[in-house]
Amino acid sequence: MENIIKDINIINKEEADSCDFKITADENTGKIKKLYIESYGCQMNFSDSEIVASIMKDNGFDTTSDFNHADVIFLNTCSIRDKAEQTVRKRLSQFNQIKSEKPDLTIGVLGCMAERLKDKLLEEEKLVDLVVGPDAYRDLPNLVLQADEGLKGVNTFLSREETYADISPVRLNSNGVSAFISIMRGCDNMCSFCVVPFTRGRERSRDPHSIVNEARDLFQKGYKEVTLLGQNVDSYKWSPEENNKARLNKKAEGVSEVIYFSDLLEMVAAIDSSLRVRFSTSHPKDITDEVLYTMKAHDNICKYIHLPVQSGNSRVLSLMNRTYDREWYLERVQKIREILGEDCGISSDMIAGFCTETEEEHRDTLSMMDLVQYDFSYMFYYSERPGTLAAKKYPDDIPLPVKKRRLQEIIEKQNQLSLVRNQRDIGKEQEILIEGQSKRSADQLKGRNSANKVVIVPAGKLKVGEYVKVRITDCSSATLFGEVVI
Ligand code: SAH
Ligand code: SF4
Ligand code: F3S
Repeated sequence: MENIIKDINIINKEEADSCDFKITADENTGKIKKLYIESYGCQMNFSDSEIVASIMKDNGFDTTSDFNHADVIFLNTCSIRDKAEQTVRKRLSQFNQIKSEKPDLTIGVLGCMAERLKDKLLEEEKLVDLVVGPDAYRDLPNLVLQADEGLKGVNTFLSREETYADISPVRLNSNGVSAFISIMRGCDNMCSFCVVPFTRGRERSRDPHSIVNEARDLFQKGYKEVTLLGQNVDSYKWSPEENNKARLNKKAEGVSEVIYFSDLLEMVAAIDSSLRVRFSTSHPKDITDEVLYTMKAHDNICKYIHLPVQSGNSRVLSLMNRTYDREWYLERVQKIREILGEDCGISSDMIAGFCTETEEEHRDTLSMMDLVQYDFSYMFYYSERPGTLAAKKYPDDIPLPVKKRRLQEIIEKQNQLSLVRNQRDIGKEQEILIEGQSKRSADQLKGRNSANKVVIVPAGKLKVGEYVKVRITDCSSATLFGEVVI
């Protein structure tokens, strides 16, 4: 039973990230109890739900897609913007209504909102039984048992070591072709707007051997693509001496096998040349030439880099504590183009209306977009998060209508650029990996090219999981259309 999370798409574009959630679908392996998980936020959070499902499976729970049938409901939550938290609160009050009619039901809040609010969440949401942070999932079975006895539980301990390396995730969100592998947890960067360092704790890298084993195992099960996940994959660093700790001291450096991200990429790419390797997210300050050369050296490492810039203005970047400026970022992009060529996909995240941003500084973001020619971006307006450096130091002084107007300008710019970048592909031959049915028609399949663009092709006799050579014939700003090259 592979395909057990369903995508639910409610939403308009602007709100996409905060309202998008995934739910578990039905898995029947004969367990007595049923677990329903609803997951919000980033890919790493979705990945964590696969770890949670695995832990719960070992403790007598099958997953269900229907919360009415669940003995336990978990909401795996996100705190990145205020809207993300509001969505979860609305959902919680709906589940609380169910609980008032079904008192045996256990409701748990997991993930970043659990970590941020801790036991305050129990006070605010009286019918919640458990509050469990991202590093405490091994404690879930125990806490669920306690909840059965009527005891409320909170575990928001943040670990310096936990990577869940030994837990083999139940693949929840899978088409059987691509899977996600967490290679590190936490973040040490302290971007001033960002809540993640507080909700996910210190950065730590996972044992590379366990990563390679997981990727190999997926490949043997028929998967064709793995995406290595971390908040900042380029600072991946692991050594046996430090045994999984985030930072090496100077003494250990150079002594024996320190594994950097480029080494890890190489190790995963070497599993098989027909296993595609992707990764996300790259931080502009950390992406090295070694990583770019490793990408170039392996055809199966996809030529696509998500390199969030956030702002195109150096003063704003400095307030954001991103630790690079406009020139540094542009140099990195130039290097990507030099080593990997014009066809390498580059995407970004943008924040409109950060504290004190002027109109001129906003225009620097637009001009940055023109210079880089992003294929795609995730775009947001600034949402102040309690406890962050920006919330403490800078006024959230850009009026909401101005933030929204700037965001709209960024979105329009990106739509134009995406179209231009897609039009470049028309007439080209590209290899795509078929991922599944196209949403538009049963006669069409969708695949993805190396640059991470969706390509729609006539289904013919093609199979999901197959590589096929196509010629691009047409495009919109979001999608390429192709025909099979014989
Ligand atoms: N680790 C990644 C980002 C993870 S969060 C990186 O450094 O690029 C995903 C995106 O959410 C961020 O890149 C940023 O664009 C956005 N974001 C984070 N905090 C935000 C906030 N307070 N308001 C608006 N957008 C925010
Ligand atoms: Fe947040 Fe910055 Fe870390 Fe990304 S790198 S998770 S934006 S603190
Ligand atoms: Fe959200 Fe936490 Fe991910 S705040 S974006 S779920 S790391």
